Amino acid sequence: MQFFPALRCPTVQLFNGLEIPVLGLGTSHRGGYSHDAILYALTECGIRHLDTAKRYGCEKKLGKAIKESGLQRSELWLTNKLWPGDYGYKAAKEACLDSCTAMGVEYFGMINVLSQSLSKYQPSVIKVEYHPFQQPKHLMEYCRNNGIVFEGFSPLAKGQALSDPVVQQIAKKHGRTTAQICLRWSIQNGVVTIPKSIKKNRIQENCQVFGFQLDEEDMVALGNLHDGRHISWDPTNVD
Ligand SMILES: NC(=O)c1ccc[n+]([C@@H]2O[C@H](COP(=O)([O-])OP(=O)(O)OC[C@H]3O[C@@H](n4cnc5c(N)ncnc54)[C@H](OP(=O)(O)O)[C@@H]3O)[C@@H](O)[C@H]2O)c1
Repeated sequence: MQFFPALRCPTVQLFNGLEIPVLGLGTSHRGGYSHDAILYALTECGIRHLDTAKRYGCEKKLGKAIKESGLQRSELWLTNKLWPGDYGYKAAKEACLDSCTAMGVEYFGMINVLSQSLSKYQPSVIKVEYHPFQQPKHLMEYCRNNGIVFEGFSPLAKGQALSDPVVQQIAKKHGRTTAQICLRWSIQNGVVTIPKSIKKNRIQENCQVFGFQLDEEDMVALGNLHDGRHISWDPTNVD
């Protein structure tokens, strides 16, 4: 593992040699956008990994925040996404270039596509919903066995996991917040983790997940919270 300097955030190596910071900051088309919070995340919290999509409608705003942060493109990991309407060589290329233009950058670290099957090309990353209530353990094992990095979105179950009694009990034991417990658990399981917040204090809180370890019994207790619920979208019938 390598470390990005400001946050001392560990990175995970993809099979193509690139290093993705294990903690990132999500953005969304729901729940608003805060320029000040993104800038704060980049300049004060040491966030170096941003996750976005054209569909979220904030590419230009993110580009502005990145520029104002004074950070070099090479210091950042940026993930974007292609929507099915942009699939196919020509359309995908155009969509990527449009997103680059919107964000004022020359490249992305990763572009996510929606897929249920694994094509003839092995992906370097598989990204799915992952939080205490949604733990696709067989998929994680497959990724581990095949050199594929596992990335989890909605790590707080969009806030639902924060009021779970088991999470609350473990938070109390460690003197941490429930959000920090969910994020620490995800990261301790080797998962690239991208919580979203538009609030500075929560972004700061969500970054404080590297100075402590969950005990084996905590990991087991959190591992037992899986009930299969999808908080985001259910990929079952995606082609
Ligand atoms: N590839 C995909 O299909 C896909 C799908 C879904 C999401 N994602 C990515 O994953 C990111 C995160 O997922 P998500 O937004 O669905 O869910 P999430 O990160 O699990 O939860 C976000 C919610 O939790 C709140 N929150 C954040 N930190 C908190 C804290 N410390 N204490 C209390 N509440 C807190 C946020 O509110 P405030 O903002 O008001 O703080 C927001 O309502 C997205 O932003 C997106 O980048 C990808």
